[in-house]
Amino acid sequence: MGLKEEIQRRRTFAIVSHPDAGKTTLTEKLLLFGGAIHVAGAVKSNKIKKTATSDFMEIERQRGISVATSVMGFEYSGVKINILDTPGHQDFAEDTFRTLTAVDSVIVVVDAAKGVEAQTEKLMQVCRMRKTPVIVFVNKIDREGKDPFDLLDEIEEQLKIKVRPLSWPVGMGKRLSSVYNIFDKKLYYFSGDDKTTAEKPLEFNDINSTELDKVIKEQAPKLREDLELVEGVYPEFNRQEYLNAEIAPVFFGSALYNFGVKELLESFIQVAPSPRPSLTVERTVDPYEEKFSGFVFKIHANMDPNHRDRIAFVKICSGVFKRNTNYTHVRLNRKLKFSNPTAFMAEKKSVIEESFPGDIIGLHDTGNFKIGDTLTEGELINYKGLPNFSPEMFRYIENADPMKSKQLAKGVDQLMDEGVAQLFTLDMNGRKVIGCVGQLQFEVIEYRLLHEYGAKCRYEPISMHKACWVRSNDAKEWEDFKRRKFKSIAKDKHGRYVYLSESPYDLQMAQSKFKGLEFFFTSEF
Ligand code: G4P
Repeated sequence: MGLKEEIQRRRTFAIVSHPDAGKTTLTEKLLLFGGAIHVAGAVKSNKIKKTATSDFMEIERQRGISVATSVMGFEYSGVKINILDTPGHQDFAEDTFRTLTAVDSVIVVVDAAKGVEAQTEKLMQVCRMRKTPVIVFVNKIDREGKDPFDLLDEIEEQLKIKVRPLSWPVGMGKRLSSVYNIFDKKLYYFSGDDKTTAEKPLEFNDINSTELDKVIKEQAPKLREDLELVEGVYPEFNRQEYLNAEIAPVFFGSALYNFGVKELLESFIQVAPSPRPSLTVERTVDPYEEKFSGFVFKIHANMDPNHRDRIAFVKICSGVFKRNTNYTHVRLNRKLKFSNPTAFMAEKKSVIEESFPGDIIGLHDTGNFKIGDTLTEGELINYKGLPNFSPEMFRYIENADPMKSKQLAKGVDQLMDEGVAQLFTLDMNGRKVIGCVGQLQFEVIEYRLLHEYGAKCRYEPISMHKACWVRSNDAKEWEDFKRRKFKSIAKDKHGRYVYLSESPYDLQMAQSKFKGLEFFFTSEF
């Protein structure tokens, strides 16, 4: 198979949801269909349970497992599927945002009873920013949920994207009998009391066929009515619009009972995009270019605290990556060669000889990589799209053991390279502020500093609202701003200026007073 065919048969995507909507269950069912796992429960163990907030051993154990399950690759009907796992816990949302930079499409899981929830909206913002094609899976229709039309309205409104149902539930909760696939005009009928067995789908090119009445009986007229409404209200499904991220196809199902999951997978492999061009600061890179290039989107510390080696996850964006070949690490402008690159096939890691765009490989790292680093065959380009987002919680970090200040500095530095949290250094006095999305991150940092670096840290409270990256279009005004707000000016890890606003009011005032400055909640603008 040539490069072109290899690229065209790849689908690299992530499944995202608000916690508990069913992301893990759906992932697992897809892996079961792909034959990548053989028992349910294999992925579940990877989940950091909400109860584990202070159970560090548990977090550590799970960090270990998640190296293997961070990327789940498998073959299905000749298609190479790469599912990128995202942490379910919302305290690690930033990790999820970064993973979204490495996918070509996304499946968003929504709970049929709860509808669109807060975390889903946030994740969708990132997809919108990146124009990532999105498919919505409305899950848990085996339970009483909201009316499908109401759900579609809610998705459209809250996720701010046009929708187009491609499957339709026949009944919901106890009355659920089947899922009609609008895309391929097949009725997936379920029988048996436990409703887990899907019979062979029945094809209905004409929905008015009396055969339909024989199968779903009194539910047939309602299905016809619903489908008529669907056709009347929603535009025809247009794949290009989906690929342009202008419309989201919606599927209904129940991951737990296997309703509508296979249909989702079958439709997904037909419509979802193969690897797409990626942006660098210098130019757009086409996956079909012959020369290899890729970027690091995730760094994972290894489990053994005595060895500080890590795994850098690289998304291949163009060309063919080959083992034992010299590649340019652009930031360091150095040649590096990798003798044991690993590919991830569901539960296993294995050393690979070559890998293609869309694939994720794991590179053993002794400290050369930071998130966002680019590897190429020599061209000096830098992949874009790995912004930092303004954290929501801030604390001063202090050294609690004066004998270990070097260890602390090194530990903090490396953990920030891994993207565990963000570090801001105040201009005024050099004090360091850690910014996180959730409480759990602070605890992980403290724990890892102690166990991996032998350093002790202490946190002190700081009252802060948001970190905003500042662009100055007026040098004089910028100097004036810096003078007036000197207590709130800091630099991020890359030396970029950040304004640490104390309150929404504070920020608003700054925005209205200093018209020559622009404030951004992400580091890439
Ligand atoms: P998440 O990764 O999005 O956080 O969700 P997860 O798959 O873990 O699912 C959350 C809960 O919802 C689980 O129950 C799971 O069994 C259940 N669930 C997932 N899909 C469906 C579905 O289609 N129908 C119904 N009725 N339930 C579903 P749990 O009790 O929290 O976990 P467990 O003890 O059952 O594993």
